[in-house]
Parts: sequence; structure tokens; C-alpha cells
Amino acid sequence: PRERPRAGDLLDWYDRHARDLPWRVGPRARAEGVRPDPYRVWLSEVMLQQTTVAAVKSYYETFTTRWPTVQALAAAEDGDVMAAWAGLGYYARARNLLKCARAVAGDHGGIFPDDHATLLTLPGIGRYTAAAVSAIAFDRPEVVVDGNVERVMARLHDEHTPLPQAKPLLTDFAARLTPDTRPGCYAQAVMDLGATICTPRNPACGLCPWRRSCAAWQAGTATELPRKAPK
Ligand code: ADE
Repeated sequence: PRERPRAGDLLDWYDRHARDLPWRVGPRARAEGVRPDPYRVWLSEVMLQQTTVAAVKSYYETFTTRWPTVQALAAAEDGDVMAAWAGLGYYARARNLLKCARAVAGDHGGIFPDDHATLLTLPGIGRYTAAAVSAIAFDRPEVVVDGNVERVMARLHDEHTPLPQAKPLLTDFAARLTPDTRPGCYAQAVMDLGATICTPRNPACGLCPWRRSCAAWQAGTATELPRKAPK
């Protein structure tokens, strides 16, 4: 019989295998009381939408060196920010980035709002980014659902309903797993699991901390999931 997946098993795995990423405060530093800078978390999450970790790294480095605070970014010339963004694509993101920095600097005293509802009022911040910033920067138990999380949830539950119809169901699965303890680490742990173990092709199920609770592992269907509706 299949065990229920436990957030604690994933957190134990994350403590050993967390990726070292420039915008991340890892599990050890967090345990020592280091808190992430919400500006850096927000900047990285905006950059990581539609763009790979590998491509984002050097841009993140450039932006944080040149504009180390949200006030500095808010005061930047539009043309300088657009030029620094060149190559990342989806240029509406860069325009919203500036709008959001100016809203935080102008309307919130330069302090990033620490709750999901207020974050949602900012330019360019949708449900995913609000949840990710709220969880990662402020350690709130928000349900963070990106493509990685959808894949992990579809497999855990052997859910064959195709995307996008399956989205509410997969979000509900994700909500039921999200822990009240260490939610910031947990959100990043699911992303790392999806990026390094529960990959779209050739998943490394033998190394997965949730293998014994994974319905797709038992059924042998992991590589077929998530299904996608034909376009
Ligand atoms: N993809 C989107 N957000 C991420 C994060 N915080 N860490 C790793 N990969 C991500």
C-alpha cells in the first residue's frame, strides 16, 4: 500500500541536495537565521518565468550588482534597464519590473509588501509570483504552483486528466501537501525535485524521496505525465 507523501521527507532531501543558486538562501543559512532579501527573491522569480536557471544566472548577477536595492532599480533609466534585459526575452516583463520597483519605492516606502494580497496589486505580479515571493521571502505557507510542481503532483497522484483542465486539481493536491513548517524551503524543494529528479524525460525515480508515495511510480506511468490536451 502506498504511503501518503510527507512534506518532511522532501525537506530532509532538500537539506542534503538543495541546489546552490545565487538568489537562494539555502537550508543551512536559513537555519542559522539568515533571511532572504524580498527584492532579490522577486527579481529572480520574474527572471525565471519562461527562462531557464542557467540563462538567468548572469542577468541576475548584472542586475543585483548594478541595482542592489529596489530603490536603485526604481531610480534607473528605462533604457538602461531594457538594455540590461536584452537577451532574456518577453520584454513586457522588464517594463513591468520597472513599474513594480517604482510602485514599491513610491507607494510602499521601498519595503516589499509581505502578504499575498498586497503583492498581487503590484504591476507584473500575478498569482504565481505573489505566492513564490510570499513563501520564499516571508516563509508563508502559500501554494506555489509552476510547471515543475504540476508535473510532480500529476505523478504523485497518477492523474491522467490533461492540462490545462487538470490545473485546479493539481493545485488542490499541492495545497494539501504544503506544510506550515519551513514553507519557504518547501516551495524551493518541490522546484528542485522537479528540476533534478522528477524531470519531464528520464526521471530519476530511484533517487526520489517521495517514490514510496508516488502512484505513477507504482503504475509505471511517470514519463507519460502530465498529459497535455492537444492544441
Ligand atoms: N524556478 C522558479 N523559481 C525558482 C526558484 N526559486 N528556484 C529554482 N528554480 C526556480
